[in-house]
Amino acid sequence: MSRLITAAIVAMLTASPALANDTPRGETVYKKCVACHAVGKGAKNTIAPTLNGIVGATAGTRPGFRYSKAVTRAGANGLVWNDRNLAEFMASPMKFLPGLRMFHVALKDESDIRSVIDYLKQFPDQ
Ligand code: HEC
Repeated sequence: MSRLITAAIVAMLTASPALANDTPRGETVYKKCVACHAVGKGAKNTIAPTLNGIVGATAGTRPGFRYSKAVTRAGANGLVWNDRNLAEFMASPMKFLPGLRMFHVALKDESDIRSVIDYLKQFPDQ
């Protein structure tokens, strides 16, 4: 477990310089995600998958990450992370995807949700 925490911290530290010149609001909102999800060039899966290329991707397909059955099954059933699905997921993750591996942070504010999706669009490459 401590190795995972170290990996998460390393991911956090290495992700921050890449954040410097990105959409300011989305970048701020993404601080709620960065402890678990790395994003950007060289990002690695930690306790959560990287979010590189997530917008437009099928759920549960970030390479090398072991998802819960809930996410894998949703992807197999055709769930694609388009803007609308991402927005619904973020507003209420546990309702949108019952059976997630762990309690997942929700975002209350719609413009926070929109800006974090825009922010993630800046990292289209897996
Ligand atoms: C405490 C850790 C944690 C935080 C904080 C967190 N997540 Fe997650 N997230 C996870 C885990 C773990 C999974 C995989 C869940 C599973 O397999 O059941 C996940 C899955 C996801 C997925 C689905 C990924 C895929 O490949 O299908 C998206 C999208 C996502 N998170 C977005 C976010 C966003 C955006 C934020 C910030 C607002 C965030 N997460 C904050 C842990 C976290």
